[in-house]
Amino acid sequence: MARPKHLIVDLRSQLTNNIQRAAREEGFRTATLEPEKARRWIDAGNDVESIILSGGDFSVTDAGAPQPPDNVWTARRPDGRPVPILAICYGHQLFAHKFGGLIGRAPEHSTDVCIELVEPESLLFMGTSPEQRVVMNHGDSVVRLPQGFRELARSRDGGINAAMADETGRYWSVQFHPEATQTEFGKMILHNFFSRICGSTPDWSPSTIIDTIRGEVLEAAAGGNVHKGFSGGVDSTTLAAILAPVFGDRLLGLTVDADHLRENELAEVALHAEAAGLRHEVIDASNRVERFAGVIDAQKKRKLFQRAVYVPYQRLRGQEHHSRLYLQGSLAPDLIESGETGGALIKSHHNVGLKMGVPQLHPLRDLFKYEVRALARQLGLPESVWARQPFPGPGLFIRIIGTPVTHELLACVRWADARVREVLQQDPALWEHISQLVVAYSGLNTVGQKGDGRVYTGSIMVRAVHTLDFMTAEGIEFDIPVQRAIKKAMTLHPEHSRQIVHTMFVPTDKPPGTTEFE
Ligand code: XMP
Repeated sequence: MARPKHLIVDLRSQLTNNIQRAAREEGFRTATLEPEKARRWIDAGNDVESIILSGGDFSVTDAGAPQPPDNVWTARRPDGRPVPILAICYGHQLFAHKFGGLIGRAPEHSTDVCIELVEPESLLFMGTSPEQRVVMNHGDSVVRLPQGFRELARSRDGGINAAMADETGRYWSVQFHPEATQTEFGKMILHNFFSRICGSTPDWSPSTIIDTIRGEVLEAAAGGNVHKGFSGGVDSTTLAAILAPVFGDRLLGLTVDADHLRENELAEVALHAEAAGLRHEVIDASNRVERFAGVIDAQKKRKLFQRAVYVPYQRLRGQEHHSRLYLQGSLAPDLIESGETGGALIKSHHNVGLKMGVPQLHPLRDLFKYEVRALARQLGLPESVWARQPFPGPGLFIRIIGTPVTHELLACVRWADARVREVLQQDPALWEHISQLVVAYSGLNTVGQKGDGRVYTGSIMVRAVHTLDFMTAEGIEFDIPVQRAIKKAMTLHPEHSRQIVHTMFVPTDKPPGTTEFE
C-alpha cells in the first residue's frame, strides 16, 4: 500500500481534521502533519503530489505565528515539477505576507459570506457557480495581492479578497474554508485542486487497503499461525477485523493483564475481539506488579512493563502456541516519530526493544489514525471501537506519578478514572471534544482532613486534551459545574477517597506539557 500523496500542514486550525475528511470523501488520502513532521515527511523522499496549508487562529505577524517548513516551497514531484500548494484562510494570508502582498483587519466578521467569482473559468472554481456561499471568519484579510497573483473571487458585500492564484499555477489560496460543510461548493473546490490542478487520481479505497493488508500478512505468515498483540483499541481491533475472516483460528489475539487496565477494560477488550471475530486470550501477568516495587522513574517503569509483556508471552509461546509472525498495530505517525524513512517493518516507538522472538510486522504502517477509524466504520465495527480514545501501552502504571506503583494505588486511580469519565460523559458534546482523558495519581503528599482525622497523602490530577495528531494538543478547561461534579465524585469512596486530598485540574497545552504526565 502506498503512503498518502497529499500533505496537509497543520498550522493549528480547529478545522484541519475536516480538510482530511473532506479530501477522503472526494477519494484522496492525506497525511496531516504539524510543520516539523511535515518537513521530515518531505525530506524522507515521500511522494508528494500536493500540499495544503491549513487555517489557524494567529495573525501572520504575531510572534510565534506557526510557519510551514521551508521545504514546502522547494518540494518537487517525482516528475520534477514543483508541488502545487493550496493555502486556506491563515495559509492564504501567509502567502500574501510571504510574497509581498498586504494584510489588514477584515471589516466584516460574518461567517456565512456570499462570494462572487472574478475569474469563473479558473481551474479551482470550475463547475461551481458565479455566486456562492462560503464560511469565512478570519480577523485578517488580504488587502493588496502580491505581485504576480490574480484575484479569483471576492466577497459580494465589502469586496474582501476571497481567493487568489499566482501566474505559474503553483500557488492557490482561499480566504474561506472549503472544508467546512456549509461552504456550498467546498468539496468541488478541493476536488478541483487535487484532480485538475495537481492531476492526481483518487487513492482512498477501503477495499483496496483491506486486500493489500490481507495479502501482505498472508504472504509473511507463509501458511503458519499468527499472533497479534490485542489491546482492544481502534488499531488492533481494526487489524483483527481485517484479518480474522482470512486467518480464522490461525490468528490469535493476546492481551496481557498486568493489573494496568481501566475499569471494565477486559470486558470491553473481549467484546471488541468478538466484534472483530478474533480468537482471543488474556495472559495474566498481574503478579509482575511486585517487580515495580520502589520504582518511580517513568522510563524504568516502561522497561519493566516491556518485560511484563514479553516474559509471559515467551512462556506461552514455549508451551502451547507456535507462531511465525507477531503483528503490531503501529501507524504511520509512530514510524515518522521514530525517524523511520519508509519501508521498514520494525518500528522503534513505544515498542522499542520489544523482542518477541519472532519476526514482527506492522500492517497498518502507512495509515493515519483517522483512516483507521474510517476503516473500522466501514468494516461495521461498533462506535465503541472507532470512537475510542487512545490509552498508553503501560496503562495505569504511567498514571501513578512520583510514588511507586502498588496494587492499592492502581485500584485507586482505576476507580478515579472511571468516575471522572462518568461525569464527563454526561455532556456528549464535551466528551466528543476530548481526544484523550488522563486521570493520574500524584504521589506528592499534602495534609488533608478525612472525617475527623488528618491524612497526609496524594491527590488526583485530571487532564483532558483536544488534538489532531497528539504532536501538539490543547488542554481543555472545564466549566465550573463540571469541576464541581468531579471534585465531589472524588470524595465518595470509603477507601479510595482516603488516599486523595486534592483534585487538581491540569489544562496545560502540549507543548509545554505532553498528553501523559510521564
Ligand atoms: P504524549 O504523552 O507523548 O502522548 O503526548 C502521545 C500519545 O501517546 C500515548 N503514549 C503512549 N502510548 N506507550 C504507548 O503505547 C507509551 O509509553 C506512551 N506514552 C504516551 C499517549 O497516551 C497519547 O495518546
